[in-house]
Amino acid sequence: MVKVKVPATTANIGPGFDCLGMALELFNIIEVEEIKTGLEIIIPDKDKKYIENDENNLVYQSMKSLFDKVDCHPKGLRITLMNNIPLTRGLGSSAACIAGGMTAANELIGKPLTNSEIIFLAAKMDGHPDNVLPALIGGLTVGCLLENEVKYVKIDLPSQLKILVLIPNFHFPTKKARSILPKSLPFEDAVFNLSRLGLLVSSLMTDNFDNLPIALQDKIHQPYRKDFIPHWEEITSKLLEFGSRGYFISGAGPSIVGFLDKDYEKVRNKTVEFLSKYEENWEVEILNVSNSGLEVINSERSNERY
Ligand code: HSE
Repeated sequence: MVKVKVPATTANIGPGFDCLGMALELFNIIEVEEIKTGLEIIIPDKDKKYIENDENNLVYQSMKSLFDKVDCHPKGLRITLMNNIPLTRGLGSSAACIAGGMTAANELIGKPLTNSEIIFLAAKMDGHPDNVLPALIGGLTVGCLLENEVKYVKIDLPSQLKILVLIPNFHFPTKKARSILPKSLPFEDAVFNLSRLGLLVSSLMTDNFDNLPIALQDKIHQPYRKDFIPHWEEITSKLLEFGSRGYFISGAGPSIVGFLDKDYEKVRNKTVEFLSKYEENWEVEILNVSNSGLEVINSERSNERY
């Protein structure tokens, strides 16, 4: 039996559309066993109406793409999902299925693929590396998906930085969130993002947290997606007032994220109190960055191949 623990992720991080991402200490567990025949998928009750329990299941699909790649197919599989990452809220629940499913598949058949090969296969399947890469290796990651590989750098963030996460009770599927983006951008907007992206990565690497509110600004996706998040202007201006070092839409949304470097509980309490007046029922969490990323908790390859 193989068991993997895979973290939630927040992607884009302001100006880093499709390239920057960060792993968070909030985990799903995926357990996989070989069985004699067929496919059994065990899903938590709360998620049953949102997750397929057949061959369309994303964990299964991800496992299958790895089995196909190396041409090795177990006869039967039992997959058990233990989910803590909220679904379709911009916190990498799909990437967790892909990263976790592929790693579990690789362990189950004796690790035919290297970590780099799994990173590439996972990024190809998700379409971009900003969620799957930090899910697999942890930390803050800068990833560039090339034709045959992902070039990347992982940055461990100081433990003083914690992540304030505001999760609303409505869903915003990535497919829809990508469909509303423009096909081209004004030249000035590209320059705007380049300058912020450079400032953001260098400021995080040098503990220059004062730069974060400007460095997190974005003109590639947030201007188009923020209209789907009710009270965006009021909420984000309050976050700055309460002490958050900037803010951004987590991945494709609708969750909103900020960096905190002090007064963690004070900022959280003020945010909870402020959000309580809205009907969206926002959940507010403070999470640590997961610098280790996905962990294989158990890896017993079945000796008996059916
Ligand atoms: N970079 C992706 C997006 C993350 O913003 O669409 C969500 O999959």
